[in-house]
Amino acid sequence: MTPDGALLTAQDLRKAYGPTPALDGADFSIHPGEVVAVMGPSGSGKSTLLHCLAGIVRPDSGSVRFDGRELSQMGDAERSALRRGEFGFVFQFGQLVPELTCVENVALPLRLTGVKRKDAEGRALEWLERLEVAEVGGKRPGQVSGGQGQRVAVARSLVTSPRVLFADEPTGALDSLNGERVMELFTQAARETRAAVVLVTHEARVAAYSDREVVVRDGKARDMAGAV
Ligand SMILES: Nc1ncnc2c1ncn2[C@@H]1O[C@H](COP(=O)(O)OP(=O)(O)OP(=O)(O)O)[C@@H](O)[C@H]1O
Ligand SMILES: [Mg+2]
Repeated sequence: MTPDGALLTAQDLRKAYGPTPALDGADFSIHPGEVVAVMGPSGSGKSTLLHCLAGIVRPDSGSVRFDGRELSQMGDAERSALRRGEFGFVFQFGQLVPELTCVENVALPLRLTGVKRKDAEGRALEWLERLEVAEVGGKRPGQVSGGQGQRVAVARSLVTSPRVLFADEPTGALDSLNGERVMELFTQAARETRAAVVLVTHEARVAAYSDREVVVRDGKARDMAGAV
């Protein structure tokens, strides 16, 4: 960790896909156990920031440090080991593997780190129970509702007890009642495991689950703490 205790930090991130930059000198930091909402208009660079922080996209310049390690200095194998072992992900449309059952989907991140099937599926089932969807464990994603599928996706993001959870519009496809319950269960689990949560959202009611808000505008990120 850095001297101020931050777990994940970014400095002066720049990333351009064309003539206009998606990120134009963005800074960010998050502490263990902290839930930070990343807000801002469509196209402002929120997802690009999340992808750079998670080591999915390489920024053109700038630094991302996780637990004192600079991501740009890691090789591809080391970065994907970091993503598998230390990070968890939830996206807007769950992105479950359609051929696998829900239990198998949740167990997958554990299987990828070498956990035996029986143990992995046992832990997966515990997380499905926590997310109140144990009854869909044996079904495939195509056979469950949107809200159930998203709970399965949340369970999958938590099953490895990641140190950072990246969530990009995790409830964007849900109605408000389902969205609220998923956010409650998600942030509660994250707080218990002391995971840091980078939560990208358009919605104020989702951001209300965070400890702090960061607004991305024109590729720059601004902490709202001093601005309100
Ligand atoms: N893979 C890509 N190829 C080309 N341009 C991209 C790519 N990803 C993002 N962009 C562009 O970069 C800018 C920032 O996009 P980004 O997806 O980060 O925005 P966002 O804030 O997440 O928007 P939204 O709220 O709509 O999801 C946009 O102008 C977008 O068109
Ligand atoms: Mg986005």
